[in-house]
Amino acid sequence: KYDVKAFELLSNEEIADGIFDMRVKNDELAPLAKCGQFAHVYVPSKTLRRPISVCDSKNGVLRLVYQVKGEGTKIMSEMKKGEAVDILAPLGNGFNIEKGKRYCLIGGGIGVPPMLYTAKQTKNPLVITGFRNKDLIILQDDFKNAGAELVLTTDDGSAGVHGFVTDVLKEKINEVDEVCACGPTPMLKAIAQVCKEFNKPCQISLEERMACGIGACLVCAVKVRKNGEEIMQHVCKNGPVFNAEEVVF
Ligand code: FES
Repeated sequence: KYDVKAFELLSNEEIADGIFDMRVKNDELAPLAKCGQFAHVYVPSKTLRRPISVCDSKNGVLRLVYQVKGEGTKIMSEMKKGEAVDILAPLGNGFNIEKGKRYCLIGGGIGVPPMLYTAKQTKNPLVITGFRNKDLIILQDDFKNAGAELVLTTDDGSAGVHGFVTDVLKEKINEVDEVCACGPTPMLKAIAQVCKEFNKPCQISLEERMACGIGACLVCAVKVRKNGEEIMQHVCKNGPVFNAEEVVF
């Protein structure tokens, strides 16, 4: 019924203000997804696909939690159960998770979803989620069910800890071996600084900077330091996950 790129849309529901939870099924491709990778979703009538991080993958079903930010994601939010969705997935290089390490996983805003699938690949992770306010909070029960020690922060104090994810990170960083994070660039930069200060390895996902997702538009170019040399890399192809120490902000 569907070609290899086609996923069957199972559900597409709004779970918070402007944030949707889409479940799509493809028994061949969904099981290949690793944490931190993304799916590139074709939106009818739009030239560019929309890169959406993998929130979860189970039993051939990919879960994509995304925010309506423009016309493309608006159209995506109106797709209905039973439709065939053209998705290239999984794409990019995800988080490198080592057994035996305790991880602190940090998500900010729409950077929270990829941390759920990551949490499921780790043991007893410390998860810190940050949102602008209480209307944008997502996935808290999912993290608890995944066995995470969970901390909620909001910028305005309308729920959880009033403050930034880095305030919590500084307090708890000595309880973990490594940090993985996804969210807005200023947040990632602040996390990278804290990790450097405390000498903890840190991986960050820069997917916010993506557009075409296939190495064609250069929108996602990022400066990376490798062997003492600064070079440009593509977030969509070389990332979205990078070693925080290598990223030149
Ligand atoms: Fe266009 Fe990477 S998003 S080149």
